[in-house]
Amino acid sequence: MTRTGTLLALALLAAVAAPARAQEPPEKAALCAACHGAAGVPINPETPVIWGQNAGYIYIQLRDFKAGHRRNPQMSPIAESLDKQEMKDLAMYFADQPWPNLQQPLPPRDDITRADSVNNQAACKSCHLDDWHGDSGTPRLAGQSSTYLKATMQAFRSGARTNNPSMAALLGSYSDRDIEAVARFLASQ
Ligand code: HEC
Ligand code: HEC
Repeated sequence: MTRTGTLLALALLAAVAAPARAQEPPEKAALCAACHGAAGVPINPETPVIWGQNAGYIYIQLRDFKAGHRRNPQMSPIAESLDKQEMKDLAMYFADQPWPNLQQPLPPRDDITRADSVNNQAACKSCHLDDWHGDSGTPRLAGQSSTYLKATMQAFRSGARTNNPSMAALLGSYSDRDIEAVARFLASQ
């Protein structure tokens, strides 16, 4: 099909599938803004950016919070209130929003060297990709909140975050100092 033909077909499909409210945020998106921010900047640094995160990854996290495979006193009750279709709609909607710039500066050279060494050893980019944007079920890490990244990597390492055993195994051998350096480096990307 030509490019115009493809676009036309997609436009027709969109018109048939979702007549009136295609561009409107899903009803429950307003709920998320209370913590994840109305313009994508989270209200506090313990809360991750979800604007512009990969749709597959957002959906998997909502599903895991609801099923109890990942737990958090703030997020779990929210996810429990969502059904599967709402999770899909929210994932698509937030993935479509622009990633916000949290203005996190490049850390000191020491941290960068340490982060490089961990990233090379563990081949982080083989999954999270060269630009750290991930894809599908693999999350974007570039520009994520440094405080959140550090906490969630520590949670993988300690076994508190159980929804991905291979991430937990990968981080198992790194010190707090390594994890902090990686978090600060990724946040600045
Ligand atoms: C009361 C505050 C609060 C509200 C409301 C809230 N969240 Fe969260 N959310 C959090 C916190 C805190 C975390 C981090 C949890 C952790 O550290 O494990 C989180 C994590 C997430 C994650 C995982 C992100 C990642 O990078 O792993 C997703 C996806 C998410 N929230 C989506 C949503 C959606 C969609 C809504 C609205 C339906 C919502 N949240 C409402 C506080 C909130
Ligand atoms: C084999 C592929 C793979 C490799 C290698 C890998 N990751 Fe991951 N990573 C994933 C996947 C998949 C997830 C999502 C897990 C989930 O669904 O909870 C993830 C999740 C994460 C998260 C959580 C992000 C968030 O928003 O909560 C961080 C941080 C992370 N990885 C950092 C790293 C670092 C640092 C390295 C190297 C030391 C690394 N990863 C290596 C696949 C990988």
